[in-house]
Amino acid sequence: MCGIVGYSGHRPAGPILLEGLRRLEYRGYDSAGLALFDGDRQFYIAHATGKLDALVQRVEGTLPPATSGIGHTRWATHGEPSDRNAHPQLDPDGTIAVIHNGIIENFEELRARYARGPFHSETDTEVLAHMLAGAVERGVDLLDALRGVVAEARGAYSVVAVAVGEPGRMVAARAGNAGGIVIGTGEGEHLLASDLGALLPHTRRVTFLEPGEFVDLCADSVRYVDIEGHELTKTIEVLPYDPVSAVKGPYKHFMLKEIHEQPDAALNAMRGRYLTGPLRVDLSGDIPFDAAWAKALTRVVLVGMGTSMHSALVGRHYIERFARLPAEVDNSAEFRYRGPVLDEHTLVISVAQSGETVDTLAAMDEAKRAGCPQITICNSPGAQTTRVANATLLMRAGPEIAVASTKTMVASMVLLHALALYLGRLRGTLAPDVEAQQVQAALHLPAAIGAALNLGGQIEVLADRYADSRDFLFLGRGLGYPAALEGALKLKEVSYIHAEGYAAGEMKHGPIALIDDQFPTVALAPRDDVFDKMRSNIEQIRARKGPVIALVSAGDRSLEGVATDIVEMPEVDPLLTPIVAVVPLQLLSYYIATRRGADVDQPRNLAKTVTVE
Ligand code: F6R
Repeated sequence: MCGIVGYSGHRPAGPILLEGLRRLEYRGYDSAGLALFDGDRQFYIAHATGKLDALVQRVEGTLPPATSGIGHTRWATHGEPSDRNAHPQLDPDGTIAVIHNGIIENFEELRARYARGPFHSETDTEVLAHMLAGAVERGVDLLDALRGVVAEARGAYSVVAVAVGEPGRMVAARAGNAGGIVIGTGEGEHLLASDLGALLPHTRRVTFLEPGEFVDLCADSVRYVDIEGHELTKTIEVLPYDPVSAVKGPYKHFMLKEIHEQPDAALNAMRGRYLTGPLRVDLSGDIPFDAAWAKALTRVVLVGMGTSMHSALVGRHYIERFARLPAEVDNSAEFRYRGPVLDEHTLVISVAQSGETVDTLAAMDEAKRAGCPQITICNSPGAQTTRVANATLLMRAGPEIAVASTKTMVASMVLLHALALYLGRLRGTLAPDVEAQQVQAALHLPAAIGAALNLGGQIEVLADRYADSRDFLFLGRGLGYPAALEGALKLKEVSYIHAEGYAAGEMKHGPIALIDDQFPTVALAPRDDVFDKMRSNIEQIRARKGPVIALVSAGDRSLEGVATDIVEMPEVDPLLTPIVAVVPLQLLSYYIATRRGADVDQPRNLAKTVTVE
């Protein structure tokens, strides 16, 4: 999740952009850059590798007195952190400057079709400048040109562009559900940013760009259109002075905000780790171990609690499949008292968003005593778990305020996928074509998660229908099983409805006795190799009059007339299904809880960080 900021007004733009980037630096800090209008014939461009201070030093004493421009702070996906890969990216003649957040999935195809000269970077961004420059040269207006580009560039992203001949004008788009853009309206000035934080020092009058919307702004005007060019009427929201409410932005609760931050959370977890050209995973910046070490491993044990343990269950599949190591998952609190059999060839992976969960720390101590190498997956830099483990994979999901974990689960599943691929490569158990296919599939995740967020309307209807239920069953098989456990956990913790997650095959061994027409089941039934078995389970429940909400693969109509309700999940690689499937499950819990009047962000009896046994 890169940081984007833009300013058009009457004050010197350079310092405003640098201050905005400072507030966005948490989103990415491997390089940064600026484009300012230097008169109406050229841009002043500055790039610097490293943290924002490197850019500040580079521009010192050289900033032109421009009153508009754009700035960017980057977290690399396509191309290493370097000056030439930093944004803004330009077309070969330097007439268009573009900054972007997200992934352009088909950028190679676009490069082949629209190159106007050599490419100077490895980014997926640069081609957008080439495309815009081509259209503008043909006399197309900048906003119309951006609509044309977005129509062709696949993925979930946001993008801002400026053109030399039009000082003070900025056009921007939000494509798909990743990477939001907020527009701030001040006195004779407009700003835009990927995050409210960069706008709040200047204005509290803001407008949020929705997926598929475009904005065209100057110092004293702003207009919104859709992809067809139809004018949109959007109202300015005035944010309260209360800083907590301000940070929630347009969302009623932090939980909903954080659910919507998941495309960014996935992207942010991947940045600099999933690489293109060639497609591969590289965790050498996080994990100091080499191939000899990886080949000597005999076993993996994953530990965690609650949602983090459910992530670990997904990770087990990945590790067994890609790294070909026997893997087991344990609840941290059980693990430590069992006298587990461990040695220096057992890799212990702990998952803990807080990094402070006492049971997980105790399990890690047990592993440390046995001399196990340890990797921890954590969202809090410097937390306890990161000090015990030999290596840390930081989630970089940003603060999670709601007590119920959402975006940190997505981030941790992505990181377990990355870790399994990386271990597989080090151990020589992963074919390069499988690695490339999985990396390509993972790069589609932000868009797929974004598409899953679009299911919100349908899920609200289901929430209306089922909010009064007393009990719920969640069923899944294979990778659907951890997702079912998570669906049940989310529902019980935020709505206080009794819910159980089960491996679907287990249903006949007891839980089926509960089924009647008042006991709904959520069944995860993607088109994978256990689909037929899931279908039979659904039929068994329906035969006993139990309502079934089935989560199925995109376009699969085969359960129509079998399940009571069908939710089609967006298209995603079968192995990555749980990372997308948790999204409708989280939304279901959220909307049911709000209909029951529950305190969604701070459910009773719970705490965000559990530091007692
Ligand atoms: C559920 C939830 C908890 C945590 C658990 C572990 O929504 O948030 O189940 O997953 O308390 O916390 P961490 O990941 O901080 O170890």
